[in-house]
Order: sequence, then C-alpha cells, then structure tokens
Amino acid sequence: MSDSTTEFSKDIITRWPFSDRATAIEANAIREILKISGRSGIINFAGGLPAAELFPETHLKAASEMVFKKHGPKALQYSLTQGIYELREILAERSSTPEMKFSADTIQITTGSQQALDLIGRAFLNPGDYVLTEAPTYLGALSAFNFYQARYCTVPMDEHGMIVEMAEEKIKECKPKLIYVVPNFQNPSGITMSAERREALVEVAARYQIPIIDDNPYGELRYSGEPAPSLKTLGGNAVISLGTFSKIISPGIRIGWVAACREVAAMIEKVKQSTDLHSTTFCQYLVYEYIMAGHLDSHIELIKEAYRKRRDVMINTMANEFPEEVKFTRPEGGLFLWITLPEGISASEVFDKAVDAGVACVPGKPFYPHNDNDQSFRVNFCHASEDNIVEGIRRLASVLRTELS
Ligand SMILES: Cc1ncc(COP(=O)(O)O)c(C=O)c1O
Repeated sequence: MSDSTTEFSKDIITRWPFSDRATAIEANAIREILKISGRSGIINFAGGLPAAELFPETHLKAASEMVFKKHGPKALQYSLTQGIYELREILAERSSTPEMKFSADTIQITTGSQQALDLIGRAFLNPGDYVLTEAPTYLGALSAFNFYQARYCTVPMDEHGMIVEMAEEKIKECKPKLIYVVPNFQNPSGITMSAERREALVEVAARYQIPIIDDNPYGELRYSGEPAPSLKTLGGNAVISLGTFSKIISPGIRIGWVAACREVAAMIEKVKQSTDLHSTTFCQYLVYEYIMAGHLDSHIELIKEAYRKRRDVMINTMANEFPEEVKFTRPEGGLFLWITLPEGISASEVFDKAVDAGVACVPGKPFYPHNDNDQSFRVNFCHASEDNIVEGIRRLASVLRTELS
C-alpha cells in the first residue's frame, strides 16, 4: 500500500496528460457487443475465435518438450528482432512458389498479424495519410492504422472482391499511401478476390506506385473452389504479405510474419525493435518444432474438414430458414460469412432483438471505415457446434421473419 500523501486521486489520474494519439482512440466498437453475446444462453456467432476444441494440444505439448530438450536456454533467452532463423527459413520455403522465391531475410516474425499491421502503420503512415481499403474491411486494421491518424478512402465490394474499376478514381482523389486488402475469405465478408480483380489491383497499384498490404490469415483454410494466384505472385515487391499461425495452430501463441522485399523487411525490423525487441523466442521454437514434427499440414486438413461441415450446415440452414429478401455470402473458406438485410432495416436494431431471442452476430457498421452502412451482420460459422449452428440460425431466422413481416 502506498502512503496517503503520495497517492494520486482518481480525479488527478484522469486529468494526466495522456498523448493526443492515445486520447483520440475510440473504444473498440464491438467490445460491448462481444460482452453481450457472451452472456449465458446465447448462441454466439459474434466472436472472431477459431474452435478451441480443435487446438492441437497433444502435439504442441510434445513440441514444447522438444524445445526444452533441443534448444534449452536458447529458447528462453533474448533473440533476434527479425525472428529465429530456423522458423524464418521454413516460412520462406512455405511462402515460395515457382514464380516467387523468398529467403529467410525477407521474412520478419511478428507478434501475430495484428502487430504486423501496427508496424506497417509505424513504418508508413504520417498523420492524415490515406489508406485505401475494401468496404467493409477488417476492424483490427482500422484500429491499428487509426493510431497513426490515418484517413481512409474506400472501395465497395461485390462477390468478386473489391470493385477495382472504382479504385483508380479514389486513388487520384486521395493519393493513398497504402492499399490494404484481405483477398482470401475476407474478415468480415468471407468474400475472395477473383484472379481478374487481383491482376487489375496489382496493375493499378504499380501505375500509381502504391504498396499493397495483403493480409492473409485465412488463405490456407479453403474448403471448396480453386485458389486464385496470390497478390505477391502477381505483384512481386509491390506487395507486403502478412501471415499468421493464429487460425491454423492457435491465436494464443501469437506468432505471425511479414513477407516482403529486403528493404521493407529491414524497415519493419527497425520499427519493431523499439516495440518489443522480438516476438517470444519460446513460441517461435514451439512452432518450429511443431512443424518439424510434421504436424502442421495434417492439422490444417483436420480443421478444414470440421470447418467445411460447419459452413455447410450454416449455409443450408440459412437457405432453408431465412426470408428470401435476406442475402448471405457463401464463402469458399475462412471463418466468416456476411448477411445483408433488405434496404431500410437496421442491423443494429435487429441485433438487440436477436440477443433477446438468444443468438448474437456482429452488426456490420464498425467494419466500414466511415461507419456508413448498417445493413449487414458478420457471422462466425466455425466456432459453434453443428447443433448450435442449426438452433442459432433458426432463432435468427425467426427474428428476421418477424422484422420483415
Ligand atoms: C484479417 C485479419 N488480419 C489480422 C488478424 C489478426 O490476427 P493475429 O491473431 O495473427 O494477430 C485477424 C484476426 O482475426 C484478421 O481477421
């Protein structure tokens, strides 16, 4: 206990001169929603969580023992900002294609992709700079870039991803510093950018010399359809790719990476150093040993199988139960799908009624950088059990039928 003469009152503390940057940050718009959706009795499609029952606990435990056995104190020591060489080498190999080769020095390990987004903000953005994004887009990217006082110009999406034909006009108008996209099974919409749109995006970015951030946490979780070429393959050095083990092993280990040309990788390394010196040495070795034991690809197959089934159950139940005017995406992978309500119906209002009926998903408004659309919901189709998916979608359908009658 501090003595009362040196203790600051709450009143003084709230008036402390916090930085303009920190003060300007608004509370995460979906935090309250997630709190409500976590109440007991509610079937929760709101969170962004992968299915915890599928985490590879046994194999991670074995990998952890191997870390102690093989790497000992090295795994518990400070290490390189860039990340441990062994893991970067594996990631370079996994990221390489016949057209595009990576080496360990073009990989920067990060504390999840979320840190990569923050580091990209640090490395590129001055206050007031524009970032061109899809609308809707990943909320966490907006939070990261908001800290650097970014502004946004947005391009709408259709079922083939960002409508790139509309991007050039925005580029001329706002002169964005960065283009940010989630081309595979986007969070929040579940939409995948078509090969044609990818080519067009790379072309327009090259014409105006703007780097593309390709945020790709879900690329390996494809349940149907054929993959399009990666933006990196098409755009080479113009593209900065972000990857993560959060959705294919576990988000708690907080290991992600950036794959970029040497100059960008070096800049990211420089701005990371003052942030956290390096990502956790132990977890980097943990992932390394887990991969070396040959478990990653078979684990990805296992979760794909489970998620594919849950996606199909959700889509089939929606197709049977939803009123015809309610539209929803049919993602070929990832964690999320996107419901669009008919014109004039507010998703925020439907959210309250859905919670009363015992089901929650996230109203889409915060995923629009200008908060200018309240017609959609993001739904996580991977987290709940198949039975709960059927029951939850029935509850939601009943609310929607009442709302539309
Ligand atoms: C598009 C996107 N980018 C980045 C992240 C952050 O992931 P990580 O756990 O690797 O920080 C997420 C998490 O849901 C995401 O959906």
